[in-house]
Amino acid sequence: MCGIVGYLGARNAVSVLIDGLKRLEYRGYDSAGVAFLNEGALKVHKKVGRIAALEESLQALAPQTRIGIGHTRWATHGRPSDRNAHPHFDCTGKFAVVHNGIIENYGELREQLGARGHRFASETDTEVLAHLVEEAYEGDLCAALRAALEHVRGSYAVALLSEYHPERLVAARKDSPLVVGLGRGEYFLASDIPALLPYARQVYLLSEGEMAELTLDGARVLDRQGEPVAKEIFNVDWDAEAAERGGFPHFMLKEICEQPRALRATLGSRVTPEGDDAVLKEISLTLDELREFTKVTVVACGTAYHAGLIGKYVLEKLARIPVEVDLASEFRYRNPLLDAMTLVVVISQSGETADTIAALREARARGCRVLAVTNVVGSTVAREADQVVYTWAGPEIAVASTKAYTTQLLVMYLLGLLFAKARGTRTAAEIAEVTAALRKIPAQVEMILEQKECLRELAEKYCHCENVFFIGRGLDYAVALEGALKLKEISYIHAEACAAGELKHGTLALIVEGVPVIALATQDELLEKLLSNVKEVKAREGTVLGVCLGKKEEVARTVDHVINLPAAPSFVAPILAVVPLQLLAYYMAAARGCDIDKPRNLAKSVTVE
Ligand code: G6P
Repeated sequence: MCGIVGYLGARNAVSVLIDGLKRLEYRGYDSAGVAFLNEGALKVHKKVGRIAALEESLQALAPQTRIGIGHTRWATHGRPSDRNAHPHFDCTGKFAVVHNGIIENYGELREQLGARGHRFASETDTEVLAHLVEEAYEGDLCAALRAALEHVRGSYAVALLSEYHPERLVAARKDSPLVVGLGRGEYFLASDIPALLPYARQVYLLSEGEMAELTLDGARVLDRQGEPVAKEIFNVDWDAEAAERGGFPHFMLKEICEQPRALRATLGSRVTPEGDDAVLKEISLTLDELREFTKVTVVACGTAYHAGLIGKYVLEKLARIPVEVDLASEFRYRNPLLDAMTLVVVISQSGETADTIAALREARARGCRVLAVTNVVGSTVAREADQVVYTWAGPEIAVASTKAYTTQLLVMYLLGLLFAKARGTRTAAEIAEVTAALRKIPAQVEMILEQKECLRELAEKYCHCENVFFIGRGLDYAVALEGALKLKEISYIHAEACAAGELKHGTLALIVEGVPVIALATQDELLEKLLSNVKEVKAREGTVLGVCLGKKEEVARTVDHVINLPAAPSFVAPILAVVPLQLLAYYMAAARGCDIDKPRNLAKSVTVE
């Protein structure tokens, strides 16, 4: 989704902006632009397509400038084009704005502004902001932005630059993240911390409704009324290296391979020294309080939703508590049945997904307690939830989520154990058994990663197919959904998951000679049933790839290729079983020459509804 950067200081602003925008590329975008002051005049360069095109257009000019704002756009209002790319200007060309989010009443505002003589150069919602600032400006840039925003309904992170103020940047946020980077005598704005990693490790995380004013003398944060806010400095301890590719051809492969480390970090201190129990110290609810909940509702989007589906099986099995799982975009509009006895668990890698944030707010407004599982410290979800459990996966850059997903699964198991203790549904020995199985997972994922080459060969064999089906029962069905999502999002091959028992209710009609079907066969109790479904596929001459725990003769006999996972209890198999599916998807997409880290039309962080 859209990205914002801003810079004020002694460096060449254009270079900093381009570098920052590149660091935000992973969010997904279709055009990019910068505005800066050159010899006192406000200039703009914007280009549809990759940042490289923008960079090239600037090279001929080689502008030396100390102040500017930049943007990567992901089209919502108006198609991707040079004209619709940000920054946008007012009629006089004295004010430039970049904006993330959506201005919901832009139609009305555009009409009113048009009637007052303003002329528009783009089809975007954002442009109204520049014209509103132009009308409100009486010499104070911050006051003008504040006044402009009073007319606006919707969500925004916005940065404003004006020719009238060659040493000042102002910005504001509502429902869309924005941070201020504090350097030595230089200041930055960014919608996302990775943009700042090489430049500033100390940041202000703007809260809802706050504004920032950056001058060479410092950065100030102001509230809605324009009163200064005493802001805490947030220290970013991410390794810049960690946000870079480090020798891998794609972030996605790097992140798949980082899973053992990410899982170890997420499990880390959450296992007792004796190794027989798990603890989530960051949850301040007592066991008595936990026992009082009568229901858990998990809300999330995309891959995080799939982690929620596994969480349902895990919590219901371990703790015998009813669990509902909802897509955030559905939850928020379906008037869900919630009460104070429902614990709402939101899962979000970024902590900034618009629908997930809205669902969280809806749940809180209805008096529910909300527990967030997120990967980004200080994200909106982390700040607004009552309880936060972090996945310590490190920055995830590739659009397709991998290490965030497996660490989310791990957290769902830890939550399951916690609830089981609170509700007394499992003995200490049973809890110790699950904990022991979880502790083995990072090393077992390492063993799966060693099969990379075989998986690559398999992927290359099937990379030209048009459809792939994933089947499974129980926990395997939830894994199948994630496997299908991974494959379609990066390889553009049509991929569909089907609960194996449902095959004959429709999907079987699509199985003809040679159609690849990936059968997840990790659930021992359901293995016989699953193999009957595999036989239904084989009878239609489909080609079956089976994934099973350890060596299973009956699986090897029935399928065309077997992928063997290390032996483990079926209950924890999802964290293992998804790894070969991630690798298959990756290598199939690579063989098809796809833009793996930035698949078409998709974004890492979906900050609009
Ligand atoms: C986008 C990303 C997915 C992610 C989903 C939810 O679609 O491409 O990888 O699963 O958003 O994002 P979140 O940050 O809330 O987990």
